[in-house]
Amino acid sequence: MSGRTDAGNTTTGGLRGGRIVGWGTALPDQVLSNADLEANLDTTDAWITERTGIKERRYGGTTAGLAAEAGRKAIESAGVDPASIDLLILCTTSPDRNLPASASTVQAALGLDCGAFDLNAACSGFVYGLAAANGYIAMGSKRILLIGAETLDKMTDPEDRGTAILFGNGGGAVVIDAVPEGDPVQLLGWDVGSDGDAEHILYAELGGYMQMDGREVFRKAVRVMVQSANTAMERAGVTAKDIALVVPHQANIRIIDSACDKLGFDREQTALVLQSTGNTSAASIPLALSEALDQGRVRDGDLVLLVGFGAGMTWASAVLRWSEAGPVEIGAAP
Ligand code: UT7
Repeated sequence: MSGRTDAGNTTTGGLRGGRIVGWGTALPDQVLSNADLEANLDTTDAWITERTGIKERRYGGTTAGLAAEAGRKAIESAGVDPASIDLLILCTTSPDRNLPASASTVQAALGLDCGAFDLNAACSGFVYGLAAANGYIAMGSKRILLIGAETLDKMTDPEDRGTAILFGNGGGAVVIDAVPEGDPVQLLGWDVGSDGDAEHILYAELGGYMQMDGREVFRKAVRVMVQSANTAMERAGVTAKDIALVVPHQANIRIIDSACDKLGFDREQTALVLQSTGNTSAASIPLALSEALDQGRVRDGDLVLLVGFGAGMTWASAVLRWSEAGPVEIGAAP
């Protein structure tokens, strides 16, 4: 594939890495059900449910507002002092304005004193952000707030049944601490990639609505999810049978089922929230991960596979060894 770049590696080999010590989510109040869509579009609840697995999605709010709410909950869940956060990364493809980065708005809302920037890799954004956060930690950062948040309602044509049924708003966040020397590293292997030659299958001009060739996205999505997940697992030195939980990008249940089937995972091993959130792009993986963690589905030592794909086309995967060790006292990290 021309235009394709690929990167990734293991985080072993002497570099210090991070571990997730807190998480939180945010969803706006306005629920848009399949019945609501049925009333205005040539579609049915039965078609949407069968073809996508989605029953409802959330509308409203702002990207910075949802990001700040999820971020605040993640900081509270970690039980850390907001003043100790030294970097904020907001993964989003739907910032509130061209300038400044929505991350700066979130920083002000949370009263943080740190660097802040937006990262746009569409629906793969959160996993790109996770790799970036671990890179910052390897270079000296001690505590990072990583958020995925989106308001896709403003980019979705309400009259286009091909996209209006899929997308919604939401936010999810994690606090990542630098792992003290001697503690196991959490990010065992990762992969990020892009094929810019496929940009025409899913795009939105500035201020415009998303344009999507759904069938083509579907076809490519399954392929890149399988390839990327396998690459990350190989780099981590593990196989599918070692993975306890898969957290896929929440786009379409048939994409998830097809990719998981090819990778050798059961539906029971998969974190799913798309039935009630729809596709929330960069927010979807932290939303699904947070729910699985809240439900106690991940235990100390479990391996978790995150796998995302999206416009670009981009893809990104990560294998984490879950650790229940709490936050790291600032100053204790190497
Ligand atoms: O983060 C990445 C974002 N994007 C995605 O993940 C999108 C990936 N693609 C998909 O999820 C699916 O392609 C869709 C859900 C968008 C569409 O499902 P599909 O099974 O690929 O349907 P299709 O486009 O092949 O259309 C099948 C039929 C067509 O009718 P005919 O030609 O067979 O008579 C469509 O016109 O279904 C029709 N159709 C609908 N019918 C009722 C398409 N959309 C709808 C609809 N309601 N909303």
